[in-house]
Amino acid sequence: MQTNILSICYLIGSVSFIVGLKMLSNPATARKGNLVSAAGMAIAIFGTLFLYQPANSSFHNLGWIAGAMVIGTVVGAVSARKVKMTAMPEMVSIFNGMGGLCAALISIVEFGHIAQDNAPMHVLSILAGMIIGSVSFSGSMIAYGKLSGKIKDHSFSGQHIFNLVVLFVILLLSAYIIFGDSTSPLIIFGFVLALSLVYGILFVLPIGGADMPVVISLLNSFTGIATACAGFLYNNQVMLTGGILVGSAGAILTILMCKAMNRSLKNVLIGSFGGNTAAAGGPAGGQDAAFKEISLSDAAMVMKYAHKVIIVPGYGLAVAQAQHVCHELEKSLTKDGVVVKYAIHPVAGRMPGHMNVLLAEADVSYDDLLELEPANEEFASADVVLILGANDVVNPAAENDPSSPIYGMPILEVGKAKMVIINKRSMRPGYAGIENQLFFQPNSSMLFGDAKDVLQQLIGQIKEL
Ligand code: TAP
Repeated sequence: MQTNILSICYLIGSVSFIVGLKMLSNPATARKGNLVSAAGMAIAIFGTLFLYQPANSSFHNLGWIAGAMVIGTVVGAVSARKVKMTAMPEMVSIFNGMGGLCAALISIVEFGHIAQDNAPMHVLSILAGMIIGSVSFSGSMIAYGKLSGKIKDHSFSGQHIFNLVVLFVILLLSAYIIFGDSTSPLIIFGFVLALSLVYGILFVLPIGGADMPVVISLLNSFTGIATACAGFLYNNQVMLTGGILVGSAGAILTILMCKAMNRSLKNVLIGSFGGNTAAAGGPAGGQDAAFKEISLSDAAMVMKYAHKVIIVPGYGLAVAQAQHVCHELEKSLTKDGVVVKYAIHPVAGRMPGHMNVLLAEADVSYDDLLELEPANEEFASADVVLILGANDVVNPAAENDPSSPIYGMPILEVGKAKMVIINKRSMRPGYAGIENQLFFQPNSSMLFGDAKDVLQQLIGQIKEL
């Protein structure tokens, strides 16, 4: 009876993950989707704690489990409340690393228990969970260090070959554990564990800073696979379903991000793009080429009397936390009869959906958001494009400079509009570390300053006109 109820709990958990994930794909239902999945997870955890009956023993260590759950819940809740939107990728990275570590720890504990039962499939899933989980853990920690600026890109000549050799040794030793007749498999297991941790570090260290979100998504997928291995080991449906969902969602997101940047996964993994890259490219005449500035009052004037204004948000809008005041500007212009839309680039900001989440937080209507292709069709009919802290995603070098590291990335073609106003604090490059020819085009004007300050002043000026 108890076992049947537990199976139903697991079924509810599995279905809630799938339904929750589906709801996450729409901004209007995303918050609820998160709660649905969390509720399913809670049912699965409490079902296990109170209904699971181990074969030859009683369920013990409840005190330790409860203690760990309380600490984990407090740390998770406090850090999720405190984290700034711009630091979200770092947090995702740490949490993902913890998931990988959990999967690896399960394998480490279980190797001692059932490695000797001579069931190759069990040993295989233990080893796969340990290797993939360890790579995900150490790789995620390095990704966190890089995103927070604590660790720089490091590589040495022949590193990719060296990494392949390490991976080969890991696989060779694993095969020996499964099929060989070693008298001390525990020592070899420990060696594989150490090599896997080292591989995670070596794998992520040389990857360029701008590619970290793609790598985190890939590592996220690894954590899912490692969890699915543990689910297979325990014959636990909810772990298996959760792991497979995380694994496949991470893999799909990785592919989508690569597509949005028009780069192959191989290029991301060995291309060393962004982060510490020095400034390159740019207009003829480099730093000295002329750019125009526009005053706040002139910018306010052209926007107030425009028919259509398209706002392009970027990473700088998130840094300035200017989403609410941006919505205020939109409302103020709309009141004056101006049509206002937002053009969202799929990799604007530092994580997938960064701009959508930011604008949703400020209650901007989803109907006013244009994705890349519809936006590119609408720019020609816009009187003004207002760029708020975006740079790489509007850089025409992606279209016309084959030597540029972002060449081939689809961009927002803002230059088609009658006038382009670019708000940023200086002429410094964006995350890819390259100059932007857009700033020097005849229909472009710079409006320097922090996005939030500038927007507040613009609203004031528009009201006075
Ligand atoms: P970026 O190219 O990074 O440019 C952001 C600009 O914001 C900077 O040029 C900066 O110029 C300006 N800025 C910073 N703080 C500001 C503030 N307080 N007020 C006003 N402006 C401010 O951003 P983007 O156009 O959004 O492009 C995103 C980049 O991240 C791309 O290279 C993309 O490939 C990469 N990336 C993103 C993702 C995802 S999933 N989003 C994944 C992988 C890579 P100043 O310093 O002069 O102010």
